[in-house]
Amino acid sequence: MKNIFLIGFMGTGKSTIAHKLSEISGMSVWEMDEEIAKKEHCSIPEIFETHGESYFRQKETELLMELHDTEHIIVSCGGGTVLRECNVTHMRSNGSIIWLTAEAETIYQRVKDDENRPLLKGNMSIEYIQKMMSDRYEKYLDAADYVIKTDKRDITEICMEILEKIKGENENV
Ligand code: S3P
Repeated sequence: MKNIFLIGFMGTGKSTIAHKLSEISGMSVWEMDEEIAKKEHCSIPEIFETHGESYFRQKETELLMELHDTEHIIVSCGGGTVLRECNVTHMRSNGSIIWLTAEAETIYQRVKDDENRPLLKGNMSIEYIQKMMSDRYEKYLDAADYVIKTDKRDITEICMEILEKIKGENENV
C-alpha cells in the first residue's frame, strides 16, 4: 500500500481521519506536528513563538524527507505543509494526496477553543479562516489527487471513500 498524505486546512479532520483510517487499514499514522514537537522538545505554539514560522516550515520539510523509501504510512500533514512546492513534489512521489475540506463555519466551530494553532491566535473568526483558506486554495488544489468534504459526515464513511479512491492506484503498483 502506498503512503496516504492527508492535507487540508486546520480543523478539516486530518488527525481524526488518520487515526480511524489506521484502525480500518492497519497502516501506521505519522502526525507531522506531533513528530516535530517531539524532535524539538516543545509545543508547536512555542516553536512559532521562539523561532518563527520559517523555522517551523523548514522542520516540516526535513521531516517529510525522512519518509524517503517508506510505505504503508498515513501522514497527517500540518495545514501549511502544501505551502512549499518541494513538500508537494516529495509527497507526490511518495504516495497519494487526499485533500480534506470543510466550510469556514465548520472549521471555526472545531478550532475556536483550541490554543494549539499559533496562526489563528488573536484572529479566531470565521472571516479570518475564510481569508486564509482562499489564500491557500490554489496550493491545496494543485497538490491534491482527490478531494473530500468532511462537513457533517460520518468518519468511517469518509475513510471508506478514501480507501476506495486509492484502491485503483495500489492495484497498479
Ligand atoms: C498550520 C497548521 C497546524 C500546524 C501549524 C501551522 C498551518 O497544523 O502545523 O500551526 O499553517 O495551517 P493542523 O492543520 O494540524 O492544525
